Amino acid sequence: MSDKSSGIGIFDSGVGGLTVLQSIKKRLPKETLIYFGDTARVPYGTKSTETVTKFARQDIHFLMSQGVKMIVAACNTASALALDTLKKEIDIPIIGVIEPGAKGAVAASLNKKIGVIGTEATINSDAYSLAIRRIDKYISVVSHACPLFVPMAEEGWGEHRIAKIAAEEYLSVMKGKVDTIVLGCTHYPLLKKTISKVVGKGVTLVDSAEETAKEVERCLAELNLLSDGTGASIFYVSDNPNRFKLVGDNFLGNGSIGRVDKIDIDTF
Ligand code: DGL
Repeated sequence: MSDKSSGIGIFDSGVGGLTVLQSIKKRLPKETLIYFGDTARVPYGTKSTETVTKFARQDIHFLMSQGVKMIVAACNTASALALDTLKKEIDIPIIGVIEPGAKGAVAASLNKKIGVIGTEATINSDAYSLAIRRIDKYISVVSHACPLFVPMAEEGWGEHRIAKIAAEEYLSVMKGKVDTIVLGCTHYPLLKKTISKVVGKGVTLVDSAEETAKEVERCLAELNLLSDGTGASIFYVSDNPNRFKLVGDNFLGNGSIGRVDKIDIDTF
């Protein structure tokens, strides 16, 4: 049985979900956060629904073995492709990033024209446009995959001129046509400044990570499961803990990632 002091399990295909961990930590500093990054099998964004579902199921099984009280699918691709299936298989709350991101975008959009950017798999799944239109069917959505943003963020090039060139190319389809853009991938908050420069200040950028943290708080409060502990972050990966630490420190700021343990995800 999970109680208030149990941790929140967060998983992603790799390091990108740390943007979600950071938002949750900021909002809920008393919670213990147990993070799993599937660094052996990243990226998820180019894989099929079947494969992503299989991987996400194992990620969840591992986190549940740690006694968590809630699961957060920080990965947009896993949330888009696998969440509906996996929700039916587990008996603790599971929150993905799509619904909160869609909710945030609808609230932010004044002219009902929203852009969505994400991995190939997320964009092809149409999960964001469906979630947005479930809230308001009169909203028009322009979606576009921006696959090169992921390696650029990992390289620490979120504000590099190469990122600006890629953003100009990718975002030309929605420039002047939307008033809000959902950053529908874990890595994109690291390119926020570049994207904002390219699309202009009049376009609101919605960070799914921040919206998801709000949803986690709401759900835990409703279940009376908010912790009053001291808070801690524990990290696990399926491969190369040193690279995770290096890139993760680059994401969150030096020294943010403490010890990282490697586990064998195939046994879950
Ligand atoms: N975490 C993935 C997402 O948010 C991006 C990286 C990947 O393709 O696995 O969609």
